[in-house]
Amino acid sequence: MGRIRVAIAGVGNCASALVQGVEYYRGRNAAAEAGLMHEEIGGWKPSDVEVVAAFDIDRRKVGRPLEEAVFAAPNCTRRFQPSLSASGVRVRMGPVLDGVADHMERYDESEAFRIADEAPVDVGAVLRESGAEILVCYLPVGSERAVRHYAEACLDAGVALVNCVPVFLASDPEWAARFRAAGLPLVGDDVKSQVGATIVHRTLSRLLADRGVAIDRTYQLNTGGNTDFLNMLERSRLQSKKKSKTESVQSQLDERLEAREIHIGPSDYVPWQDDNKVAFIRLEGRGFGGAPLEIELRMSVQDSPNSAGVVIDALRCTKLGLERRLAGPLEAPSAYFMKSPPRQMRDDTARREVERFIRDGSAAAGAGDGARPHDGDGSDNGDGNRDGNRVCEGRGRDRGGPHDKQARITL
Ligand SMILES: NC(=O)c1ccc[n+]([C@@H]2O[C@H](COP(=O)([O-])OP(=O)(O)OC[C@H]3O[C@@H](n4cnc5c(N)ncnc54)[C@H](O)[C@@H]3O)[C@@H](O)[C@H]2O)c1
Repeated sequence: MGRIRVAIAGVGNCASALVQGVEYYRGRNAAAEAGLMHEEIGGWKPSDVEVVAAFDIDRRKVGRPLEEAVFAAPNCTRRFQPSLSASGVRVRMGPVLDGVADHMERYDESEAFRIADEAPVDVGAVLRESGAEILVCYLPVGSERAVRHYAEACLDAGVALVNCVPVFLASDPEWAARFRAAGLPLVGDDVKSQVGATIVHRTLSRLLADRGVAIDRTYQLNTGGNTDFLNMLERSRLQSKKKSKTESVQSQLDERLEAREIHIGPSDYVPWQDDNKVAFIRLEGRGFGGAPLEIELRMSVQDSPNSAGVVIDALRCTKLGLERRLAGPLEAPSAYFMKSPPRQMRDDTARREVERFIRDGSAAAGAGDGARPHDGDGSDNGDGNRDGNRVCEGRGRDRGGPHDKQARITL
């Protein structure tokens, strides 16, 4: 049934886990293997993903075949797929812009980025030449200009975008409108891991609220030893990540907590942890008769495969969006797969809406109730999306003229 032609911006640990995962599930009976939320999405299997272009800026990755670059330092994720087929893709030099934090220089090259001495390519031209349909953006947190540069290139080349980074595009009305006008689907922002700290924290918060417990305060402290955590030592780069993670939990509460009572964020870089992320979550509340209640939880995960388990579905839903000529943010996939979607939903609602989207596309978009992405109680409270698709004009590649549907944003 063809391929899903994907370009990758940022060949770091998440990209490594994704590329390994495509090969891992290709060689196995996906139905019998652990780790997939969907064996098939609209007939598309994980193994139908084909990486046709890749961009990075690190001298140990640029110019190398993708199947080697994904294992090059400072990547440190698990090698769960021992061998990768020849991809025919060489990593191209991207524009550095604000992708590399200054403090990286002070760390050993085994742990930190090192910029290649090469001129950047024209990203839009490479996307066009490669025949990419979807770009997955895996740039470091805080790469505001660089992420936008890749997003512009998508608009220029007629390529859909899956934005795994907390740089707000799908949840930004102007960017959402630009993708809609271009006839291109967009899923974002900031990928929510398969079973990561965010979804566990959201689920516990909802559980307490549903059972009548008033939450007084909560924290989520995270440590890890990969470049994502090293990058986030620079606190000025962290603003959007903190906002994305905090609002993702706030959105699940019946009443927002005062800023002082909620602390969520990447907390420290511990080199020997490599790609192992450890989260410490604490919730304090009051139950019947004001009786105090506390939950204290430690969870340990492999950070990058945890994100790839979601991106493999986000890519296939985006492909469905292209097939169905949807344009703009895909609301249900964004709400289920991302921490900062255009419209927050409760996770059970988002899951149901994604299943509906996969079946018939009806929950692609459009809540129509004016909820905002960082709205606290903007979550859908259970009855799901109303179908807000509308006719629009667009110019996505290979889609032959006006688009019959568009994703409606609700900002
Ligand atoms: N579970 C997860 O791992 C998870 C969850 C949510 C969000 N994310 C986000 O996904 C993104 C990727 O995470 P990661 O762990 O793969 O990070 P990483 O540090 O391993 O990889 C980032 C890559 O981007 C490259 N890069 C830097 N500037 C660039 C530029 N201008 N152009 C092209 N490449 C550039 C780096 O060389 C590196 O290879 C991060 O923003 C992270 O916060 C990850």
